[in-house]
Amino acid sequence: MFKQIRTPKQFSLIVSLILSLSSVFISLFVQVIYNETVHYTRLLLVAVVCFFISYGVIYYFLERLITSKIRLLYRVIHGKAQARDKKDFKMDEDVLGEVEKEVMNWGKEKSAQIQKLKEQEAFRREFLGNLAHELKTPIFSIQGYILTLLEGGLEDEKINRLFLERANKGVDRIAKVVEDLDLITEIESGRVVLNQKANDIVTLIKDVVDSFEIKAKKHEIDLILEFDYSELLVKCDRDKMEQVFINLINNSINYGVKGGYTKIRLLDAEEHVMIEVADNGIGVAKEDQERLFERFYRVDKSRARHEGGTGLGLSIVKHIIEAHGQTISLRSTEGKGTVFYFSLKKV
Ligand SMILES: Nc1ncnc2c1ncn2[C@@H]1O[C@H](COP(=O)(O)OP(=O)(O)OP(=O)(O)O)[C@@H](O)[C@H]1O
Ligand SMILES: [Mg+2]
Repeated sequence: MFKQIRTPKQFSLIVSLILSLSSVFISLFVQVIYNETVHYTRLLLVAVVCFFISYGVIYYFLERLITSKIRLLYRVIHGKAQARDKKDFKMDEDVLGEVEKEVMNWGKEKSAQIQKLKEQEAFRREFLGNLAHELKTPIFSIQGYILTLLEGGLEDEKINRLFLERANKGVDRIAKVVEDLDLITEIESGRVVLNQKANDIVTLIKDVVDSFEIKAKKHEIDLILEFDYSELLVKCDRDKMEQVFINLINNSINYGVKGGYTKIRLLDAEEHVMIEVADNGIGVAKEDQERLFERFYRVDKSRARHEGGTGLGLSIVKHIIEAHGQTISLRSTEGKGTVFYFSLKKV
């Protein structure tokens, strides 16, 4: 029976009933023992008086006890500002059940928050490690060249210019990392306002492809435009979209194979233009595919380093595409090639 008691009111009621019944039995017992005549009205009066007094006392103390404890709990879980007033607790409702639910929800919320903080902490640690690693290499090489120059190399006509040029390359590399990170941070924080206008994606792609002519030739890679639209207007920020194509085409060349290709495909769908940048290069293993867009993530570190990559290119691409309200994905088979695809809204 006690299991079914859910509210303080029910509890007070039942306990007072028990007490008043007990008082009736005790009075009856006393009257019988002393051989008095049993006065039923008196018994009834005792029962009623006992019931009301005990109900009042129990209910009063129970309510005080519960509200003070619950208010403390609410203050802890919701903060002082949201601590409830005494009148908010309804003693004829399952107030303890409600508190139990709130505490459980609070516990779940807190453990989710802790999990998130742990992930952020791990991410922060990894990020700082990567950043330090990325900057260390060029800084040490610049330091090496400058020291050699200071220790007499400056007067040596054979190396002074060469070492300065190499040191300059290191500076360029550091500048690129910082610029890339700056762009990612700006997009992430929403400080970058995209200048989205009607742009012809066909000319944009052709311009970027033209700028890669020499590099593609050097790597013996064919740059192929697999579409025959003369114009397709999409809504985008031209500079940022150019950056997307530069990064994707640059990757397809860097991670392509000699004699291979980079194909750019366009498809005019109803409200969108579907875009693909495909290559038949080294491809990406399944387990690396979902991490590819993370900052500093590189699959083949030695090759990426050889190509001078920092692992920020795809992260920038993803941020830019998402800032346009779209998503980018890839299909890839190791040793066969990779296709990056996304869409843009037509004007
Ligand atoms: N088309 C591709 N084919 C195979 N692997 C690729 C391709 N594009 C990217 N990758 C892999 O994904 C990794 C991350 O690419 P991302 O462009 O972000 O960095 P990166 O090219 O190394 O450096 P950068 O910041 O200079 O672009 C590369 O290091 C490479 O291992
Ligand atoms: Mg890249």
